[in-house]
Amino acid sequence: MALRPLRLSSRRTPPKFLFIGLLILVPICVIGSFIYGQKISYFFRPLWDNPPSPFEHLPHYYAENVSMDHLCRLHGWSLRSVPRRVFDAIIFSNELDLLEIRWRELHPYVTKFVILEANTTFTGIPKPLFFAANRDRFSFAEGKIVHSVFPGRIASYGSHEDPFVLESQQRGAMNGLIRRAGISSGDLLIMSDTDEIPSSHTVKLLQWCDEVPQVLHLELRHYMYSFEFPVDYSSWRATVHIYSPRTQYRHSRQTDLILSDAGWHCSFCFRHLREFVFKMTAYSHADRVKHKDFLKYSRIQKLICRGDDLFDMLPEEYTFQELIKKMGPITRSASAVHLPACLIENAEKFQFLLPGGCVRS
Ligand SMILES: *[C@@H]1O[C@H](CO)[C@@H](O)[C@H](O)[C@H]1NC(C)=O
Ligand SMILES: *[C@@H]1O[C@H](CO)[C@@H](O)[C@H](O)[C@H]1NC(C)=O
Repeated sequence: MALRPLRLSSRRTPPKFLFIGLLILVPICVIGSFIYGQKISYFFRPLWDNPPSPFEHLPHYYAENVSMDHLCRLHGWSLRSVPRRVFDAIIFSNELDLLEIRWRELHPYVTKFVILEANTTFTGIPKPLFFAANRDRFSFAEGKIVHSVFPGRIASYGSHEDPFVLESQQRGAMNGLIRRAGISSGDLLIMSDTDEIPSSHTVKLLQWCDEVPQVLHLELRHYMYSFEFPVDYSSWRATVHIYSPRTQYRHSRQTDLILSDAGWHCSFCFRHLREFVFKMTAYSHADRVKHKDFLKYSRIQKLICRGDDLFDMLPEEYTFQELIKKMGPITRSASAVHLPACLIENAEKFQFLLPGGCVRS
């Protein structure tokens, strides 16, 4: 009923005014949907953040006690007379146990451990300097550590920083820190998150062989909560670079080449239940924590031991949520073979990451 007069009147509108109206309206709609799209893009990140085209998987050869010369030749490369220097660069949050496992795994091969730690989260919430406060735990690597604090911005009350902006500022700061650590052209640079751990024999191979590609993704075995719950081989973000002055620190798709089975990616592999809660609150938007019950220790503990979905409120964990919905809880594995050496050497200390050790404190 109300539409009728409107249609009549618009029929009488001279075409000239219609045209001017469209000229004004269309750009407003385009700008409006652009801004709206940016706002919601964070929640849909995993939908468009998948690798754009299939990877070319480089076969990866390794067995204990096979000579370096033979391994290089199997990959189509040749043995160098001197190994490359290796720089391992990570942006650190709060994963202290995985940091120790990572650094002990890579220690014999790494020249400098470059670690950047912000005093806010990516979403603009103040955060303790977990590494600085626990530095004595890493005295075994002390001579190799290059640590710096990134001054984060605190989001004003009721708003939050765009996590992508803060994340990219930190990656920019990392470029400077790597140079201050003394990197030079031809060195090997590892770019990954703390929980994406290349295996030591992978790093040794890449530092001892010539003709390695300039940029190479690392395919990592993906685990959830602990090495008791292997998910799949979907982890691809970690990269190694033969450094040049044009190299930029990134954590995204950079080339089609990926080296198969090159290490481990252990997501949410925390020792204490409070670390789960820290990650769940600090890295998602407060309004997505639907009920207080989500953060109850008893609920989290139950889900961890089942290998079940903890992520129904975390947009960035969309892929796991999908996966677990489709396949049910992750199947438990009783294998502790081909894991980081430090885990096995210190099996008691890292029991929570090994088969049968799911109960947290
Ligand atoms: C590995 O190599 C070392 C020295 O080259 C040798 O002593 C040892 O017996 C080898 N181990 C195996 C299992 O072949
Ligand atoms: C972070 O560090 C900067 C520089 O030291 C400082 O100005 C700022 O107040 C710190 N922010 C927090 C939340 O501690």
